[in-house]
Amino acid sequence: MKSKVSAIICAAGKGERAGFQKNKLLAPLYGAPVLYHTFKKFDIDEIDEVVVTSSKEDFEEICALAKPFGYKVVRGGKTRTESVKNALKEVTGDMVLIHDGARPFVSKDLITSCISSVEKFSSGVCAVKFTDTAAIVSYGEIHDVPDRESLYRLQTPQGFFTQDIKRAYSLAGEKTYTDDSAVYGEFIAPPHIVEGEESNLKLTYKSDFPREYALLSASEGQKIGFGVDVHAFGEGKRVTLGGVKIDCGKSLLAHSDGDVVYHAVIDALLSAAGLEDIGHYFPDGDEKYRGADSGKLLEKTVEIIKNAAYAVGNLSVSVQAESPRLSPYIEKMRENIARICGIEKENCAVAAGTCEHLGFVGENLGIACYCAATLTKNKI
Ligand code: CTP
Ligand code: MG
Repeated sequence: MKSKVSAIICAAGKGERAGFQKNKLLAPLYGAPVLYHTFKKFDIDEIDEVVVTSSKEDFEEICALAKPFGYKVVRGGKTRTESVKNALKEVTGDMVLIHDGARPFVSKDLITSCISSVEKFSSGVCAVKFTDTAAIVSYGEIHDVPDRESLYRLQTPQGFFTQDIKRAYSLAGEKTYTDDSAVYGEFIAPPHIVEGEESNLKLTYKSDFPREYALLSASEGQKIGFGVDVHAFGEGKRVTLGGVKIDCGKSLLAHSDGDVVYHAVIDALLSAAGLEDIGHYFPDGDEKYRGADSGKLLEKTVEIIKNAAYAVGNLSVSVQAESPRLSPYIEKMRENIARICGIEKENCAVAAGTCEHLGFVGENLGIACYCAATLTKNKI
């Protein structure tokens, strides 16, 4: 029979080091309280019951957050050890995963690995290997450098059979511990390690928050831009779109080669970087640009972007033309744009469509192109 799995989510701290006016777990992260994100991670079929610890001050607010999930909220204590002890009284599952509310980035995979480890080895403590060299330091001097291979940073969740961890905590008496594996290790057995995740960070200081925003939304240091270009058809043999020459018995009227696709991309990139538009950098009154290869202009634009400390993220291009039919040329356009911008082809989408005979494009008077672009600020 499948064992009943409970979880304890510790949320009864004050979050003093974060320095908000309230518990850091009630501070917003990506538009919702930190604790809401943690709650969501445990709202899965594998978890049968959740008990949350809360301080007296936050009780009402945490109850309101927990209610839609059907989680039980109990009062915590002065220390995390006391809080867990109180929560354990309410736990009815065969096994219990104990997790810090301050780790909202835990993944479902890690939670299930932790459960499997308890089933197999009676305990499962999420931990990640040290990547830096660690040292034992006293009075500002290094006294020992332990073997990095044997050093782990412990995370949560930490899972145990309920009767074991309850027994460990009752044997611990009034002693205070920083985590549950220490209590289990002292009174029951050496806890078993589960390979944790670097992303499963604990929010401790205020400065951890912007870093976490970047993890969740990738929005920090990202810019978005939009560009549009239109050229009318004129006499000629061929048009150039995204660097591809297409023989179609007409041309696009322009000072340069009239590559509307490249021009829309150039404007999207300049716009994302907060710079002036294509006309500023490549004026159409300038003889230098008569019949210019727009691929060269795009190359120059990428240089300008780089000098402003940005790298191209991705591009989304949409061309509207009643004729010629563009589908045979789309792959080549993607390749050309991606190559010049220094991105993978997967990060450069090109779509084409007609205008159903509506408007200037529909009347086959010219071609329009739209482009959205993202840029990433180079931080180092
Ligand atoms: N915690 C708890 N009961 C306590 C203290 C802490 O349930 N008496 C919880 C916290 O809410 C947090 C987790 O244990 O989710 C890990 O603790 P920590 O990161 O130290 O959070 P705080 O104690 O709230 O922060 P600080 O130490 O900066 O005050
Ligand atoms: Mg603390």
